[in-house]
Amino acid sequence: MGLWSRKSIAVLQREAADEGDQGLRRTLTATNLTLLGIGAIIGAGIFVLTGNAAAQYAGPGVVLSMVAAGIACGFAGLCYAEFASMIPIAGSAYTYGYATLGEFVAWIIGWDLMLEYLFGAATVAVGWSGNFVPFLKEFGITFPAAYANAPFAVDAANNFSSTGAVLNIPAMVLIGLMTWILVIGIKESARFNNVIVFVKMAIIFLVIGFGFMYVNTANWHPFIPENTGRFGEFGWSGVLRGAGVIFFAYIGFDAVSTAAQEAKNPQKDMPIGILGSLFICTILYILMALVMTGMVHYSKLNDPAPILVAVAAAGPSLAWLRYAVEVGSLAGLASVVLVMLMGQPRVFYSMSRDGLLPPVFSKVHPRYKTPYITTILTGSVAAVVAGLLPIGLLGQLVSIGTLLAFAIVCAGVWILRVRSPEIPRAFKTPLVPLVPILGILSTIGLMAGLPKDTWIRLMIWLAIGFVIYFVYSKKHSHIGRGETQHHMGD
Ligand code: ALA
Repeated sequence: MGLWSRKSIAVLQREAADEGDQGLRRTLTATNLTLLGIGAIIGAGIFVLTGNAAAQYAGPGVVLSMVAAGIACGFAGLCYAEFASMIPIAGSAYTYGYATLGEFVAWIIGWDLMLEYLFGAATVAVGWSGNFVPFLKEFGITFPAAYANAPFAVDAANNFSSTGAVLNIPAMVLIGLMTWILVIGIKESARFNNVIVFVKMAIIFLVIGFGFMYVNTANWHPFIPENTGRFGEFGWSGVLRGAGVIFFAYIGFDAVSTAAQEAKNPQKDMPIGILGSLFICTILYILMALVMTGMVHYSKLNDPAPILVAVAAAGPSLAWLRYAVEVGSLAGLASVVLVMLMGQPRVFYSMSRDGLLPPVFSKVHPRYKTPYITTILTGSVAAVVAGLLPIGLLGQLVSIGTLLAFAIVCAGVWILRVRSPEIPRAFKTPLVPLVPILGILSTIGLMAGLPKDTWIRLMIWLAIGFVIYFVYSKKHSHIGRGETQHHMGD
């Protein structure tokens, strides 16, 4: 049994159908799934990075960066939607990889998804802490900086130094709370998510609606500021680099697919959840970027809270919006952490069910019906990462890991169409192979724009994964032991 053994779609579909009493509980509707997607998507990207990308790379052209990153994600989203409706298994890209490219590639994606979900949760939790501490200050409460920052910093030359801080406690506490909700139940988690998504969307609508009245169109001229002579600093190359940075803002629609085994009607509702959340967020992002760069000159937006800068520029008549924006970004970032922490244990669940991780990873709580052991494990590791590491180091690692998974999913859709065109697909990606090819090219293009150090970190991470695969997973794989029907690789 080789590295390239594949799982048959028929077996996967049977596994998705026979969850039984020991499995996850099917309670989520199309609305829940769409809101989970929005919960995962709208976060640090729009609340923090947009301003950064406008000020440093694209100017008002960040609106075009938004469009470009949104289109790239659209290609990937269409491919995810086909797989998620055909193979509604919690493992998401990992499982799609198992069905198309074989066990070894599946393992790599599963391992790689930790960068997106586990490290993604940690990154956004650090961002949350960075918003929470100034929010407390509004009420005269000073949270000691030594306990709200990582003890290490890393500079552009990749040198680590000590910051004098001890731990980022608010980030760790947030992760603890979200983990607890996820253990209690998927329905409870979805309900909590619905409330915070409602809050953050309401506030984004307020900013867009009121902000438009304060737009000074002079701020949009020139829409694409002239390039400084260096690649990526304004001009069209700046728009491109801006798209690479802004990509982070879109991450999360794919997390919907990890809830496939908890969806009431995955064939129909998975595509709605994935594509619906992506579409809504793309529109909101474009409007938000237009408003922000219209309210204030882009050069002023390089701030950890750029929306507040834009609102402040409108003068006292919009001062009331300040608190709403602060609450909105806290809510926004918290729901991202929640959904990322939801995704990770579900990928582990599928990997364990296939034998690639120990059986304890797929243990479901007898009453709550959640993968509680891995939820707690994921939360604990994410809390340690968030407590100790600086945000700059984490963010790009999350992007590169996610992009790799997107590229493989796009390739997988195309491969399966060629290999097994007869399998019924509740949702079909349009224009195959054009859409998957464009998906692969655009994700690789965005990856190419990330710094070399991020690539090196990705390689190191994958190398660790290889070792674990050969030491443990290959030997315990159910397919490898002949316990599951499979296809041999070509
Ligand atoms: N898209 C998520 C965010 O922007 C990860 O926070």
